[in-house]
Amino acid sequence: MSIHIAAKPGEIAEVILLPGDPLRAKFIAETYLEHPKQYTDVRNILGFTGTYKGKGISVQGTGMGIPSISIYLHELFRDYGVKRAIRIGTAGAIQEHVKIRDLVLAMSASTDSGVNQKRFGGGGYAPTASWNLLKTAYEAAISRDWKPAVGNILCTDLFYSEDPQGWKLWAKYGALAVEMESAELYTVAAKFNREALAILTVSDSLVTGEQTTAEERQNTFTRMMEVALETAIS
Ligand code: HPA
Repeated sequence: MSIHIAAKPGEIAEVILLPGDPLRAKFIAETYLEHPKQYTDVRNILGFTGTYKGKGISVQGTGMGIPSISIYLHELFRDYGVKRAIRIGTAGAIQEHVKIRDLVLAMSASTDSGVNQKRFGGGGYAPTASWNLLKTAYEAAISRDWKPAVGNILCTDLFYSEDPQGWKLWAKYGALAVEMESAELYTVAAKFNREALAILTVSDSLVTGEQTTAEERQNTFTRMMEVALETAIS
């Protein structure tokens, strides 16, 4: 057991999918994995291990935001030897050409968070996806006639910002979409020399104010899962 994960040694696979929502983790385990077995429920952050096409895969919730995902990543990499972590989540589009339901592969993640300034003594680390996973996910999407937007995203600390227009500066510098976990995913994976990628679907647009319907979210989720699972077992 680690402090926040109740798994015994060996109960978590080397490859893990990381949705924010623990009930999403349960849904994924029950829908996509063979023989899923729950390994943790500490704080209701559920985690499961099963197989997909014969290969071991785990799936676990991370909660929302950098501090929450940071705790789980440290314990998964340090205490359980996870080698490959793939975040699957949603993001808000901040470019006009990025539409709701689109797939976004985060090549890099800028952030307004202070965590890396603290880690690097004021320096500006560039959290970056694993090229191997990014390439595999891109090809998996393209082969399904699904053209992903690939590039930099904004990982923000404040869902409810004091400046509702603040995203526009990041958009001007090319960020595609906004979410709240990927910069820490890439940084902690680098710290432990592991592979990481964030695969995101666009749930809403800050440019147009549109939001996806529940049905659209389900359809885009299904396609995102296909890309994530193919990347996970590659
Ligand atoms: N802001 C931050 N995170 C998000 C958003 C957003 O608008 N949409 C989906 N995740």
